[in-house]
Amino acid sequence: MQPTISTSFLSQHDRDAMKLLANDRLFVLTGAGVSAESGLATFRGSGGLWNGHRVEDVATPEAWDADPELVWRFYSMRRRDALAVEPNAAHFALAALEDQLADRYYLCTQNVDDLHERAGSRNIHHMHGSLFQSRCVECERPFGDRSFYETASTLPKCRDCGSPVRPHIVWFGEIPLDMEGIYAQLDRATVLLVIGTSGCVYPAAGFVRIARQRGIRTIYAGPEEPENAEAFDEIILGAATEVLPKLTLK
Ligand code: OAD
Ligand code: ZN
Repeated sequence: MQPTISTSFLSQHDRDAMKLLANDRLFVLTGAGVSAESGLATFRGSGGLWNGHRVEDVATPEAWDADPELVWRFYSMRRRDALAVEPNAAHFALAALEDQLADRYYLCTQNVDDLHERAGSRNIHHMHGSLFQSRCVECERPFGDRSFYETASTLPKCRDCGSPVRPHIVWFGEIPLDMEGIYAQLDRATVLLVIGTSGCVYPAAGFVRIARQRGIRTIYAGPEEPENAEAFDEIILGAATEVLPKLTLK
């Protein structure tokens, strides 16, 4: 079945269709698109490039093994970028929704920035890691870290064991964090709302099919259809800051 597609200039009928029921249990998945209007470039939007490098060439275990300085320069720059921007109306709308739904709300983000937290979200899981955390490659315990490491001589070492410290980021070829917890949440949800992700990076791009198999309502919001569009019941075309503030409880 084809999804219902509407624009974010909603008719009353569309607005009613977008309402959540007070006893809904909402699973939200966000991607780079939710931070785009804060000024952070999406992967697609930047052509997947950074300083002439393909993102895949700086966001893999192989890149880390070959050139940790390059990898740390990349993530230091992303830390700088994230520190320079503010959460937008979409981040705030999601935090407000969490206030209403309380423990019937779960936010899983593919984003490594902290804009959801800064907008007030609490129950949030960063499946691809967190920009402002690092971890020792041996001890593996993540810790808060807002520093920039941009030259070989400043690359961080573990205080406990002296091993290299890496960004606490899930790279291509690594397994996203706490998949078990994510699937448990998907299992209890009554609505899956996906926002601003191109639907081509797995396993996140597969959540909608799992939700669909369970027969729950699936909604996508973003300015263009994602690659996995056919798996959604409803697609709302529009920027996250336009669509999300209109999402309300019945
Ligand atoms: P992409 O850059 O692949 O896709 C960004 C999506 O955001 C696109 O579908 C755009 O249409 C949408 N978008 C753009 N502006 C928007 C707006 N104002 N409001 C809503 N949506 C908007 O980013 P992701 O799908 O998040 O993984 O990328 C998924 C993963 O691939 C990332 O987490 C990262 C990357 O490689 C890792 O680093 C492991
Ligand atoms: Zn260590």
